[in-house]
Amino acid sequence: MKNSYIGILDSGIGGLTIVKSLKKASPTLPIIYFGDTANLPYGDKIPTQIYNRVKKIIRFLHKKKCNTILIACFTASSLLDEAIYNYCSKNNIQLYDMITPLYPYIIASKKKKIGMIGTTLTITKNILAQKLSAINSTKQIATLATPQLATIIEQGKHSKKILTNYLTHKNLKNIEALILGCTHYHLISKKIATYYPKNFPVVETTNLVVEQILKQKQKKLIQNNIADQYIFSEHTTHLAYQVDKVLAKNTNINIYHL
Ligand code: DGL
Repeated sequence: MKNSYIGILDSGIGGLTIVKSLKKASPTLPIIYFGDTANLPYGDKIPTQIYNRVKKIIRFLHKKKCNTILIACFTASSLLDEAIYNYCSKNNIQLYDMITPLYPYIIASKKKKIGMIGTTLTITKNILAQKLSAINSTKQIATLATPQLATIIEQGKHSKKILTNYLTHKNLKNIEALILGCTHYHLISKKIATYYPKNFPVVETTNLVVEQILKQKQKKLIQNNIADQYIFSEHTTHLAYQVDKVLAKNTNINIYHL
């Protein structure tokens, strides 16, 4: 398809971590990013509200000629259902999410007890553990909801006290790896790693997702030099500063009240 973009969505700046990796691997890949800042944090909202937003954003990105869409948000990825997959397959949209690439990774891993932190909604849904138990996997996923983290990270703040309380929580005792089950957490992965011994796997999922997309891209996506678009549903105090910090100085952002 000519002029086809990769559409990437998240509640805010978290998904930009995936954009950064994608652009590093393939600089001319055209991207339309939608950050739903008007509804952040997703993780504390009722599932129907977020589900409806996700459907709306997918339609919006499709209208803007995205034939590949990545749900760069674990919370929204936890809510994908048959109706969304059907809509995408009917419209020839290749849909990616943050949770699916984790199954082969976990199954192949030698670790038995794996921790996962995420938003309240992601941890309540617990899709990863459910799917693993459906295939009789013996892996144990030790989960902990860390509700304040995404908002703090979005605002560019840091609270050692909050992070320490979460990471030393009894639910995460004796884990052999930790999955960062929220794309916002990828932005502080280095800080999180300091709580663990050297070589302890702090799993970001970014590389797993990027690998999947690039594999398909070789076949279908056309690379060209059309400009990327960074769209957010509401302007917030730290938005421009945060986007520049993750991507590049003076990244052009647009506000669209979807
Ligand atoms: N970045 C998101 C995630 O991966 C959502 C954070 C939020 O808005 O609560 O789950």
